[in-house]
Amino acid sequence: MDKKAWKKRYKDNLEEFEELQKRSIRNANRFAGRLEKANTDTLLDILMEVTDYFNAYFKHEENMLRVFDYPEYKAHREAHRSFINNMISFRRGHDESRKLAKAVARYLRSWVTHHLKGSDKSYEAFIRVQLFAKTKRR
Ligand SMILES: [Fe+2]
Repeated sequence: MDKKAWKKRYKDNLEEFEELQKRSIRNANRFAGRLEKANTDTLLDILMEVTDYFNAYFKHEENMLRVFDYPEYKAHREAHRSFINNMISFRRGHDESRKLAKAVARYLRSWVTHHLKGSDKSYEAFIRVQLFAKTKRR
């Protein structure tokens, strides 16, 4: 579709776009609510949904701004990109925290094997010998 055709389409469907804007606000609030209640398993899925939803919404909005030669188009598009990049960073942060959780879990398991079930057992024997020696001395 050429610019003129898009322009006419947007003029004819301005209400439709306004409805889409309102929906994006409602959806952003819904996403925020879900994120507040999310656990580590659901968090990543919600972040993906937020990214996909706003990627699609921004494309639509940017197309309209371009069609109407909006003077702040570039800055507006940059703000969208920054939002998407932040979502990607949040997702990476989530991956990092998952890796960290797994590393800590591995460390804890090895601590159980090598220290709690290992070194701690060694001093037990030593203490027993000490206690036994003390009772003998009395
Ligand atoms: Fe926007």
